[in-house]
Amino acid sequence: MKEKGFPKDFLWGASTSAYQVEGATYEDGKKASQQDVINKDSYEKFGFATAEIASDQYHHYKEDVAMMKEMGFSAYRFSIAWSRVFPDGTGEVNEKGIQYYRDLIKELKDNGIEPIVTLYHYDCPWTLVEKYGGWLDRQIVKDFEYYARYIINEFKDQVKIWTTINEQSIIVQYWTQKCYIPEELLDGKHDQLRYQINHHMNLAQAIANKLVHELVPGGIVGAPLGYSCIYPLSAKPEDVMAMQNAQALRNDYYTDIYFKGIYNKAAQTYLEEHGLAPIIEEGDMELISDPKAISDFLAINYYASECAKWCEDDGSHTMRWSGVNRSGKKGEIDGFETHPGFYQMCKNPLLDTTDWDWAIDPIGMEYLLRDLYNRYNKPLMITENGLGAYDTLTADGKVHDDYRIEYLRGHIAACKRAIDKGVELLAYCPWSSVDLLSTSNGVKKRYGFVYIDRTDDDPKECKRIRKDSFYWYKKVIESNGEELE
Ligand code: BG6
Repeated sequence: MKEKGFPKDFLWGASTSAYQVEGATYEDGKKASQQDVINKDSYEKFGFATAEIASDQYHHYKEDVAMMKEMGFSAYRFSIAWSRVFPDGTGEVNEKGIQYYRDLIKELKDNGIEPIVTLYHYDCPWTLVEKYGGWLDRQIVKDFEYYARYIINEFKDQVKIWTTINEQSIIVQYWTQKCYIPEELLDGKHDQLRYQINHHMNLAQAIANKLVHELVPGGIVGAPLGYSCIYPLSAKPEDVMAMQNAQALRNDYYTDIYFKGIYNKAAQTYLEEHGLAPIIEEGDMELISDPKAISDFLAINYYASECAKWCEDDGSHTMRWSGVNRSGKKGEIDGFETHPGFYQMCKNPLLDTTDWDWAIDPIGMEYLLRDLYNRYNKPLMITENGLGAYDTLTADGKVHDDYRIEYLRGHIAACKRAIDKGVELLAYCPWSSVDLLSTSNGVKKRYGFVYIDRTDDDPKECKRIRKDSFYWYKKVIESNGEELE
């Protein structure tokens, strides 16, 4: 009988992404990425911090790694900023930029922490956006290959676990937050471009998979996907069908590419019927389905489950995309994704939510782990999971984030139940190791085990303060996931 619980070599850690923690946007030769531009705009519109300083990890990485070691991390998932290494996207490498990642990776390895590297996390070099629109143009695939080949070659001896392009599913939904999209494309008539961007990313991730398989001895590679399980609002057959449609378009459309090298039929048919399907050129599907381009595992970013209901086709062909809650007040989400005649997303009346309307659902984690493993029979990792919350620094310099502990406890227990039912789970890396710049809500929405003393308006010194969850997670790791109380 297999022993129950987390395996002995299970990787415990946490995640971040470059532009959300590093800061030093224009330092040591780095040039802007599209996120530096998008976040400057969110500062002006909503008062959310810019990416210029973020959590200042560029200057604090040694201190941050020391705290990871103190918590007992065996892994740290982070991304490399393309525009730090190639400030203009291609051409000459920026020596000081690549040196930062050499130093960070060395620091991690010296402290017994396995680096899990993400090649791309929303931050396309701005020069490429100016040149040809970034991911909107197929040229990006070639430029990405140039960048990815360099990085994979550079770190092939130190880095064995690679993840490719962060959250293609979320990029399709929230394309203006995750990519710079010019105003004139926002009239609803250009929505096909969401899926065209995704197709370019499918080609790019296939190339990155091949590169890891060819260049990294013993290396494994997979995509980090924003993934939520989807429930039907009711047991009405129409709602159950809507759930299946949503599952096809929001989830299987990505995982079928990564593991089977095909576009999911139901989703692709829907997109074709509505003029949203990407243009696929000769040779594209051969590349995507090449055995060396198939992922070894799926890296799952899970925060909340979703709910779908039937939506009649009113003949208008008017669809809408996922809403967002900018205010941080429950209930102020500004709408749900709707595809008439296919499905409509909706609130799950049975689940509590965060202040930003994300449903809190640990059972959803167990459900999706078992479902994905049963369907694809590939190992899984959790590369994001966490609670965005307002934290308070008390007068005695502490942060009592018992709500975060409760959230994480439930999700770790769910991972354990999934493992006990046979799921091969390799790692748990919640979001995030330190507080950072949220992609949609500034720095006031916090996720970290370590509090960064700054506000949206004032970066102060970015002093690091251990939260209660820091000490709790340390015990969880020490006990290999047995001690959750
Ligand atoms: C994931 C992203 O979608 O969710 C992260 O990979 C992001 O970059 C995280 O920060 C939490 O979302 P948000 O909008 O609260 O930052």
